Amino acid sequence: MSQERITPPHYNDLRAVHQAAEELLVRGRDDPAHPFRKPVMATVGADGAPRARIIILRDVMFGERIVRLHTDARSSKISEIQDNPDVILDFYDPEQEVQLQLSGRSSIHRDDGFADNAWAQASAPSRRAYLASGHPGAASSVPTSGLPADVEGIIPPEKRLLEGRGNFAAIQIIYHQIDWLFLSPNGNRRARFVFEEGGWQATWLVP
Ligand SMILES: Cc1cc2nc3c(=O)[nH]c(=O)nc-3n(C[C@H](O)[C@H](O)[C@H](O)COP(=O)(O)O)c2cc1C
Repeated sequence: MSQERITPPHYNDLRAVHQAAEELLVRGRDDPAHPFRKPVMATVGADGAPRARIIILRDVMFGERIVRLHTDARSSKISEIQDNPDVILDFYDPEQEVQLQLSGRSSIHRDDGFADNAWAQASAPSRRAYLASGHPGAASSVPTSGLPADVEGIIPPEKRLLEGRGNFAAIQIIYHQIDWLFLSPNGNRRARFVFEEGGWQATWLVP
């Protein structure tokens, strides 16, 4: 294990930790193979119990503290967010042994510029998923992809893909807290950044 990995330059530097956290989020956004591409999003269910699932990180904008995700407007997470917009995104990089948790408030976008921009950026294979005839999690008497037969195994033309647009939703999260945890044989580190009064307030925590 390299010394750089055990005690990185930000090991004892809160400001540098914040920067390192943002760099990991950029890698997740820009590199489909990076583990930060696939965080777990936790919501609160209507019964008050937690719900969690993996979801692809589509964009992150640090100035506005915005994260963008894509989903099926018929999925359970939509009504959960409508009932309670508080969510956590949990990221883990096994190579750097870093866990990052973003806490924020989410909103659903289906018919506005945010949603249109998200749809425009979605790949054709991703858009095809919104043609599924049943809602995610619907029971089926047979094994199924949920896709109609005419699009099964192929990427249909744009005109056909557009028929799924009504099932598409973009989730916007405005995050207000970043919890960073780093595991090291030299001693773990944990830090929290809370956005208050227009700026990030940082503190170390016992890991
Ligand atoms: C690697 C991976 C990536 C996924 N990406 C997404 C995604 O970007 N959006 C999404 O809605 N679901 C995605 N899913 C599926 C979700 O984990 C989940 O099963 C689905 O959204 C239904 O969740 P819900 O019933 O809690 O709403 C992904 C699953 C895996 C394993």
